[in-house]
Amino acid sequence: MPELDLKTLPRHVAIIMDGNGRWAKQKLRGRVFGHKQGAGSVREVVTCCRRLGIPYLTLYAFSKENWNRPEAEIRALWGLLDRFLKSELPDLVSKEIRLIHIGDTEDIPPYVLKQLRSTEEITRNYDKMTINLALNYGGRQEIVRAAKLFAGDILSGRIGTGEISPELFSSYLYTSGCPDPDLVIRTGGEIRVSNFLLWQLAYAELYFSELLWPDFHEENFIEALKEFQRRERRFGRTGEQIKSVILGI
Ligand code: IPE
Ligand code: IPE
Ligand code: MG
Repeated sequence: MPELDLKTLPRHVAIIMDGNGRWAKQKLRGRVFGHKQGAGSVREVVTCCRRLGIPYLTLYAFSKENWNRPEAEIRALWGLLDRFLKSELPDLVSKEIRLIHIGDTEDIPPYVLKQLRSTEEITRNYDKMTINLALNYGGRQEIVRAAKLFAGDILSGRIGTGEISPELFSSYLYTSGCPDPDLVIRTGGEIRVSNFLLWQLAYAELYFSELLWPDFHEENFIEALKEFQRRERRFGRTGEQIKSVILGI
């Protein structure tokens, strides 16, 4: 088994944490039990990224579409997210990890938003690692929001139409200042992106795991990183070009 190469780790890993409900069902328990258990996998992945020095981790925890779930599950999810933010704060502080919310703030229950804002505030100067927590997040909604802000700046004359570029547009997204994900992991066996980081994952390597999120542990995360390291990222070039760059010829 080849070892993990610490020099070629992704800078940004984004995870679609899927499969909590099915995990609970397998255990003949309610879906919320699966969401509770999923918190353990989050802790393992965060600790592993921090230890390896992966500077950016984005976690998809509640999508725009998740509002379509039964009301009791939605309420329980927000309650768990609030408790998770509270329970993990000492760890974020001791590990000097910054937490940033990505997603729309409207509709998030006020008590959760308050906790989110205070966590962001307390951790704002930490630079060992950044966690983007995607809550009430949708990729299309993010792009439309950015387009509105961008259009506003053009109409007000702050930006000239000649300056419009992908780079400038990116700066209007929630992830402004954060490099695009190099690796996107989705657990739970579904092969889709479910409205996640649609703009940002243009050149990400995609990794799909059959494991349900609560069963996804550190060793599985390391395996995903190794798979990432086996991929050849060409960015439109030919394989020969990439090899000559690596060999320095
Ligand atoms: C992912 O697990 C967590 C959220 C979407 C909040 P699911 O709840 O989607 O679990 P499955 O896909 O139904 O098993
Ligand atoms: C994606 O999972 C959203 C999160 C993990 C937060 P879903 O379970 O909501 O995705 P779909 O609906 O099966 O595509
Ligand atoms: Mg799901």
